[in-house]
Amino acid sequence: MSENLNQRVIIPDLIKKKRKGEKIVALTAYDFPTAKIVDSVGVDIVLVGDSLGMVVLGYADTIPVTMDEMIHHTKAVSRGVKRALVVGDMPYMSFQISKQEAVRNAFRFVKEAGARAVKIEGASPFRLEIIHALIEAEVPVMGHVGLTPQSVNRIGSFKVRGKNKEEADQIINQAEKLEEAGVFSIILECIPLELAEVITDRLGIPTIGIGAGRFCDGQILVFHDLLGYSTGYLPKYVKKYVDLNKIFIDGISQYVKEVRENTFPSDVYSYHSREIERAFLSRKTKK
Ligand code: KIV
Repeated sequence: MSENLNQRVIIPDLIKKKRKGEKIVALTAYDFPTAKIVDSVGVDIVLVGDSLGMVVLGYADTIPVTMDEMIHHTKAVSRGVKRALVVGDMPYMSFQISKQEAVRNAFRFVKEAGARAVKIEGASPFRLEIIHALIEAEVPVMGHVGLTPQSVNRIGSFKVRGKNKEEADQIINQAEKLEEAGVFSIILECIPLELAEVITDRLGIPTIGIGAGRFCDGQILVFHDLLGYSTGYLPKYVKKYVDLNKIFIDGISQYVKEVRENTFPSDVYSYHSREIERAFLSRKTKK
């Protein structure tokens, strides 16, 4: 399917892509200018991930991220995106307390922030109930299994999941339950590619991998990791396509140097008024 960059991506397009074996491209974004860039190059899904906490807000993990922070950033992203499907990531404590609160928070993503779907980590029986309630309320849901960063305090690490048969069976079961519950797609995070292949083959909905190998129906990365703009640890699965940190450091260092040497702003970056010059500065020698 040749991409129509003027036509909004809708959920049935993603299912069609899976059926035709066409890869789905997803990427995170957290603000207006970067969302505009991501959208303009034809990314299909823009996820406003709660990874926001680490890559933008400087938290150690995703746990402190609040609904208000997510809404603030999702609004900015939605203003920058015309084509891609914007998905808002339900942060920790936004859906675990009650179904009613989960639905209210998901509505905020859609009504206030302009997202067209939400993502929820995990597949416990209560989460499946929440997912039912959201779909009943006409909010499309993306699932997320494998490594689920909001479980960090219970599990204690960010390591690869599903390397043994028992854990793999659990993850397969979760993915199948999520599909039954009606999610339109599932993120598979940090699992062996062999397991991602099994899940992808068994499901009718698309799988989107991050650290889950090439057999997924699509791929997602964190914007800052892909562009070399992250400050923290980079997992093995990240391919850094450019080194933005270096570009920023080079540019800003040059600015610092030129300000200190008084070579910036030179004349071309300055406004002039001959009248002011004549009235006030005639005694000064022009530089
Ligand atoms: O928060 C996030 O960015 C995510 C992706 C890594 C899938 O959940």
